[in-house]
Amino acid sequence: MLSKVITISQQKGGTGKTTLAVHLAMGFIKYHNFKVAVVDTDPQGSLGKWFMIRSENKIANDNLTFKTASLWGAQYESKTLKKDHDVVIIDTPPKIESDARPSIEASDLVLIPMSPSHVDFWATEAIIDIAKKANKKIMIQINRANQRSKLIIKTNDYIKSLNVPSVETIIGNRQIYASSMGEGKTAIEKQRKGSAVDEIKKLSDQILSELN
Ligand SMILES: Nc1ncnc2c1ncn2[C@@H]1O[C@H](COP(=O)(O)OP(=O)(O)OP(=O)(O)O)[C@@H](O)[C@H]1O
Ligand SMILES: [Mg+2]
Repeated sequence: MLSKVITISQQKGGTGKTTLAVHLAMGFIKYHNFKVAVVDTDPQGSLGKWFMIRSENKIANDNLTFKTASLWGAQYESKTLKKDHDVVIIDTPPKIESDARPSIEASDLVLIPMSPSHVDFWATEAIIDIAKKANKKIMIQINRANQRSKLIIKTNDYIKSLNVPSVETIIGNRQIYASSMGEGKTAIEKQRKGSAVDEIKKLSDQILSELN
């Protein structure tokens, strides 16, 4: 068992935390044969809704465990789950309050999804500050990117100025990420090849090498 905890966190809403949580989880299962637990700490319950649709549609959940917890509860829950899972992924609510810290404390890696937009840049500093103070490994994941946009260059410059590493693979703005989740699936279960499949495979490889 690898027994690592990844907390996906970002103050700004809608940056792709839940999308990243489920795609990374299924990427680890499919490409690395891992046993993965996902923990929903968001009262909105998007991750739980996805898992419910999945279960109702009788989609196989081999090697996938789903739990809900409060942000405080996530600390205890992840400690228990990591004993018999390779990776525990904690999905968090958008707003950072002081009680976001326990889920950060519980983690081996804080993964921060961020769109290539200045509004996202401004929101990212608070969570980086918390993760740095907790002495945690941090990675920014650029999500919903239009590869041809000039903002990608600005985003890379911005990340450099923060002095935090980012995941090399940039996740594109692709409808399949959104539409697959509505069916309780992920892009990599809907498609056998294509850009989204390439992205998630590379993403899971890169995050794994960071955890090791
Ligand atoms: N790479 C992507 N391409 C296209 N759509 C995306 C992508 N990532 C996320 N989305 C869409 O953006 C919206 C927000 O994504 P998601 O719910 O994952 O964000 P979140 O950070 O978890 O939001 P919240 O802060 O409300 O929990 C959703 O409609 C989702 O389908
Ligand atoms: Mg969410």
